[in-house]
Amino acid sequence: MFELSSETRVSELQAESQAMMKTLKKTGIFRDGDDPNVTIAELCYSFGLHPKILLMPLARALATEAPTDIDVSELNGMTLTQIVENIESKHHAYLREMMPVSLELLNRVLNAHGANDPRLAELHELFRNMTEELENHMLHEEEALFPMCRDMEIDGKITPTRCGEAVGGPIACMENDHDRAREQLAQLSTLTDNFAVPNYACMTYRNMIEQLKLFNQDMVVHIHKENEVLFPGAVKKQTALRKGLLKKA
Ligand SMILES: [Fe+2]
Ligand SMILES: [Fe+2]
Repeated sequence: MFELSSETRVSELQAESQAMMKTLKKTGIFRDGDDPNVTIAELCYSFGLHPKILLMPLARALATEAPTDIDVSELNGMTLTQIVENIESKHHAYLREMMPVSLELLNRVLNAHGANDPRLAELHELFRNMTEELENHMLHEEEALFPMCRDMEIDGKITPTRCGEAVGGPIACMENDHDRAREQLAQLSTLTDNFAVPNYACMTYRNMIEQLKLFNQDMVVHIHKENEVLFPGAVKKQTALRKGLLKKA
């Protein structure tokens, strides 16, 4: 598994992640044609910088990078309305059912094992925060972007919502939320040693890890469907509507 540190070479970043390379180049301290065998520490010190200054944005870029191997072919040929329904019925419904159950499992595991493993308190707080933020996030999607998608297909126009009457506003908010969720998922994986079950784990602990692992898998697919299929589809539909290319259904 890739581990980012001050001893990581630029060539390793190159091989691992386009997002990290993009972030690195934005800083201006590494340009095309520079020696990629240099380590992050060497690169930073040559500019009088502490490596931490670069490691933080690189870690963020890595955590929020879109995975490339997610299969969302089930959405092929679907209309925007059908995609929205797929997301609501498969992912929003799943989250609303699993989050309170998993939070209760985390409560019980924290009470039973928290004294021996301080990371459980961090895990509990992280998941509780994710629960609150995802509830708000889903509501935001269901009250703004999703109705806009349906409106465009059914009425050929958008009825203004609390986010205005263009899809760009809510999409920008949702993408920010998704970046944050990806960072939180990376923390979730770190705090559970990539969803490993410790030797001393009781049934509740095992169940908790299993639920968190499924949660992580589902979130990756959920975000991918929205970022890579729904959002571009909504922008395309809106552009076509504005150009008058679509007739009212
Ligand atoms: Fe969603
Ligand atoms: Fe979302």
